[in-house]
Order: sequence, then structure tokens, then C-alpha cells
Amino acid sequence: MKKPIGIFDSGVGGLTVFREIRKKFPHEDIVYFGDTARVPYGPKSPATIIQYSLQNVRFLMQNQVKIIVVACNTASSFALEQLRELLPVPVIGVIEPGARAALKQTLNQRIGIIGTYGTVNSGAYQNEIRKLGEAITVISRACPMFVPLVEEGLENHAVSEQMAREYLSEMIRENIDTLILGCTHYPILKETILKVTENKIKLVDSAEVIASSLIDILPEIETEGDGKDLFFVSDNEDNFRRIAERIIGSELGSLQKVFLGESWFVR
Ligand code: DGL
Repeated sequence: MKKPIGIFDSGVGGLTVFREIRKKFPHEDIVYFGDTARVPYGPKSPATIIQYSLQNVRFLMQNQVKIIVVACNTASSFALEQLRELLPVPVIGVIEPGARAALKQTLNQRIGIIGTYGTVNSGAYQNEIRKLGEAITVISRACPMFVPLVEEGLENHAVSEQMAREYLSEMIRENIDTLILGCTHYPILKETILKVTENKIKLVDSAEVIASSLIDILPEIETEGDGKDLFFVSDNEDNFRRIAERIIGSELGSLQKVFLGESWFVR
């Protein structure tokens, strides 16, 4: 039986990861779950993120997924270990591939990390980078305003540029040469960030690197099949669809709302 790839995120932002995986694996089936009822994950406690993540993967497992991709950086920061312990399928998060890519790119050993408060305060990227490369200077900053700006479609607006200047000025002064976009939404702000950093800083797009790292992990890559997408959310399908179609640049296929009882269920 052909089994799908499972992806979950706190909401719509993880579609940046979906988009990259879809590009690299056109024949695979994908089941995406966006926890729109409980978004944002960024400001929540580790215990809550772990609990939500465990509930989310239970839903994906009901869909017979062969691998789970934790698209959400905040969930990857806090819950990866617990998910791996519990699940009989491989679980990949964005942190390790992102850290590896940044280490490969930096020439001056000065790396910046931006993400939610949860991701930045967890120290997950910082720890991974230090594990892989000792003499690295890491400068991090939470950029919570970026998420609503992207969801409002303002990624190329002057207000995003102003926020990017505010958030990134210290890192630019500190002469980082590589910046990890450690949040699902930030790849959409790439152009604005490149403008503010005058194209002098290399960006690590965690959506791209996680999709590339899947190539090494997937037991066998499907070469036949039309690549079916199934989207599920825990609230407000219309809002999800509106933002989602902008992110993926095409119409969304099947989208259903699920409810959390003992486990998630489709009514
Ligand atoms: N998906 C989250 C992340 O990548 C950002 C949005 C949220 O705070 O839930 O960390």
C-alpha cells in the first residue's frame, strides 16, 4: 500500500515546508495537519507544545503516514525527542538540517537565528550548532511580528521592511554572514530580509533544507502516482484556505476540519 508523508504545523505557515516537499517529491501523497485552533505555538510553554504535538501526530498516524515531518520550528524545538520515542515511523524536524546548512555556509563562523520566542528561548538551534561546530558565535532574536505580517500578505510592504530593520540591526552590526530563518513563515519574507541585509548575509531557509534532508531518509521514493494532497485543520477552514492558496500559489485541494476528542476525528 502506498503510504503518505505526514506534515504538521501550528497552522498555515508550515505550507512553506509542504511547498518545498511537494516540489521535490511530485509523486508522493501528503497529509498536512495545521493546528489552526491552537495557533500560535510560539509563545506557549514547552509542556503545552509537547502535548499538542503528541495529539497532532496521533491524527497523522491514523492516516497511515510513513514518516512525520515537523514543519513547525517551535514544535521541532520542544517535542522532537518525545515524538521520536513514541512513534514507530521516522520523525524529522527542522532544527538539525537548518543548523547543518548554516554551518556549511558560514565563512566567518558568525551565525544569526531568528524564530518565535519559543524557538529562540529553547536554545535548540544554538545547541545543535554548538554540537556540530565549537567555535561558532551565535546571535539570536525572536521576531514575533513577522508571523502576522506574512499572514496579512504584507511581506513586501514597507511595514515589514521596517520591522526587519528593527529586528536585524544588531545582527547586522555583529557581522553575521549567515542567518537561519527559523520559523515557518519567514521564507516568505526572504526578499525583504535580503533587501534589509543588502544581500550580504546568506539565508538558510529551513523549509528548503528539511525537504532536502528527506531525500536521505525516505526509504523509497515514489516515482509513480499523481501526488495526492489531503489538508486538515482544527479550525476555520476558510481562513486557512485564503492564506494557504497565497503561500502555495495554487488552489488547495481537499480540506477538512477535524475535532479533538479522545483523539482527532473528522465529523
Ligand atoms: N509555525 C510556528 C514556527 O515555525 C510559527 C507560528 C506559531 O507561533 O505558531 O515556529
